[in-house]
Amino acid sequence: RRRMTLRRLRELAETGTPLVMVTAYDYASGRVAERAGVDIVLVGDSGAQVVLGHPDTTSVTLDEMLTLSKAVRRALQTPLLLCDLPFGSTELSDEQAVATSIRFVHEAGAEAVKIEGANPARLSRLRAIVEAGIPVVGHVGLTPQTATALGGLRAQGRTSDEAVRVARDALAVQEAGAFMLVIEAVPADVVDEIRRALRIPVIGIGAGAADGQVLVQHDLLGITEGRAPVFVKRYAALGDAMVEGVEAYAREVREGVFPADEHTYPAAADAATAVRE
Ligand code: KIV
Ligand code: NA
Repeated sequence: RRRMTLRRLRELAETGTPLVMVTAYDYASGRVAERAGVDIVLVGDSGAQVVLGHPDTTSVTLDEMLTLSKAVRRALQTPLLLCDLPFGSTELSDEQAVATSIRFVHEAGAEAVKIEGANPARLSRLRAIVEAGIPVVGHVGLTPQTATALGGLRAQGRTSDEAVRVARDALAVQEAGAFMLVIEAVPADVVDEIRRALRIPVIGIGAGAADGQVLVQHDLLGITEGRAPVFVKRYAALGDAMVEGVEAYAREVREGVFPADEHTYPAAADAATAVRE
């Protein structure tokens, strides 16, 4: 497989080949994405919940996101590496947003960054990062970093007023220079209309078929606990399988079954005797 490029992503989208994006947060989940042959790996700020155990995305820091991103980078040869700009790392100024994005490129080898929202300040940040030469992905609809202001983690664009707002946001993000757009939790027919007006590919999550899809890896593998949003499909039940594995290990240790002879190093006949003496 060859290394993914922005040009190749555009070609795939233009020829109607759906783009596949999945999240990763460390070397192991990055390797899974690499071996599965996805097109884009997103180091999402969903890592706040998924791997750091926070209640929402706003708790993950820039330094933590950089650590996660660097681990994922080491795992990837082919997919494009996209990193989320976390809450607090872009809000102060365009300069802060550019400096943050440069850190993702320099320290984590990010090939693109993703920024949420489309208010005037967000668009200004987006433009500034693009002008600095770093490719940017937008994110509209449900934007978890500002979910409190949106009334919680709820679908967006279900009323005509909201649909018009999401459409306006999508167009504004494209005009600000994003090369791709994530739309989250918006009815599929609304997204279809928005896509008609856009040149750039749309990656959907709870947004219908679009030009591609993104899911949280731990959601689609069934590792995350509790009720998942409606847009999550579970392709495996790895959480249960992992618990069963560790339970079996615990049982065998307690019963003296593990370790067996085959898990033990052989020593020269007189080695133990030498230690005793
Ligand atoms: O953080 C994340 O995982 C995301 C995707 C779900 C789009 O932003
Ligand atoms: Na995110």
